[in-house]
Amino acid sequence: MKTIKKEAYFEVYENIEELPTAVSDLMAQAAKARLRAYAPYSNFLVGAAILLDNGEVITGNNQENASYPSGLCAERTAIYYAGSQFPDAKIVQMALIAGSENHKTTTPIPPCGACRQAIAEYEIKQSAPIDIYFMGESGEVMRSQSLSNLLPLVFEKSVL
Ligand code: THU
Repeated sequence: MKTIKKEAYFEVYENIEELPTAVSDLMAQAAKARLRAYAPYSNFLVGAAILLDNGEVITGNNQENASYPSGLCAERTAIYYAGSQFPDAKIVQMALIAGSENHKTTTPIPPCGACRQAIAEYEIKQSAPIDIYFMGESGEVMRSQSLSNLLPLVFEKSVL
């Protein structure tokens, strides 16, 4: 038996004002997209903004459905749109913002497991890290310079 240690690094910013301007602008676009979320069942609104290496910014939000599992998270709504419209572009950065309408969400909300898997696919496809910033409606912002911090043991195409 042996033990393998995996380390993950995150930067924590006190608030959105502490971010570089380009990143806070991207987060502002995610926040705008969040307000267009369709989340009548959970009342939990999520916005995503994706910066591509061609300068395009793609935004998305969660889309829920009366048949609950048919809904889709903000991250996947945005990343699949980016992949479908700009298949050759690399994803440089993602800004994610999430919060409940029932109470104030002031802690950073990381992407769910399914979204981590979806983001991992593109990080591996483009052979370049995706820089991810995530936050609640307000408060601290966390940064992971690669998706691999969030999903250290990834299932990926090389095993197929
Ligand atoms: N949600 C996202 O959009 N992204 C995540 O990473 C976590 C969850 C959405 C799905 C659902 O519409 C609501 O938040 C509550 O789970």
